[in-house]
Amino acid sequence: MSVETRAPGTGNREPDKTPSKIAGMFDAIAGRYDLLNTVLSGGLDRYWRRLAIASLNLSGKERLLDVCTGTADVAIGATRHGAARVVGIDFSGAMLTHGLDKVKKGRLAARIQLVRGDATNLPVADASVHAATIAFGIRNVMQPEAACRELLRVLNPGGRIAILEFGTPSSKLFGPVYQWYSRNILPRIGRAVSRHEAAYTYLPESIGTFAYGEEFAKHLATAGFSQVEARPLMFGAVYLYTGRKT
Ligand SMILES: C[S@@+](CC[C@H](N)C(=O)[O-])C[C@H]1O[C@@H](n2cnc3c(N)ncnc32)[C@H](O)[C@@H]1O
Repeated sequence: MSVETRAPGTGNREPDKTPSKIAGMFDAIAGRYDLLNTVLSGGLDRYWRRLAIASLNLSGKERLLDVCTGTADVAIGATRHGAARVVGIDFSGAMLTHGLDKVKKGRLAARIQLVRGDATNLPVADASVHAATIAFGIRNVMQPEAACRELLRVLNPGGRIAILEFGTPSSKLFGPVYQWYSRNILPRIGRAVSRHEAAYTYLPESIGTFAYGEEFAKHLATAGFSQVEARPLMFGAVYLYTGRKT
């Protein structure tokens, strides 16, 4: 595994991840979520999602499950890059409503189904999908290990996963700049654009306390995935985790 571990002391207070609280927070910011992503990442979020989808080597025949689908960017991207059909699951009704608007505008309603549900108790049959994705969702899940086990359960043997999540860059040069940005600039812009006080305080807290890199790769291996890899992107500000069900 080509991974880095979390630098001690980079974490801060573990935020409250009670499902009703997290779902309520995303319901509140859903209307501005896409704009915020673009502003806060400078558009890089789209590139990261494209990389995640490309890592699955989809052939045009696969059924893909996108967990924590939010406003459906991965679901939509996957249908454009090789998935035959996609089911997107999220527990925030407002995020799904915005996602559904985009699906309809893209004339993809016949290929993308959006369903309300929890990542730790997926409303999906055993061994029924060929690939599964989670983009920037797993750190919000109260029991990420349970979500990893659910991914394994719903995948066909040979099925692949691609998970994107924030990390904490350890680079001596970029690390401090990123920490300063995420603690001082990001919450200010987030609050101003979303008009939600707590959501963009939660963002750096949830990133700073998430077990990224080797620690998260271990969760995937413990859940039963093989060929687990954690690829740092942008000096480890984001990780792409890949693996396979044997
Ligand atoms: C940061 S957004 C990411 C959305 C989308 N995947 C993207 O790439 O933009 C996280 C999403 O995960 C959802 N979420 C968090 N925990 C969840 C859980 N336990 N079950 C289902 N959805 C969850 C939230 O409602 C939210 O829509």
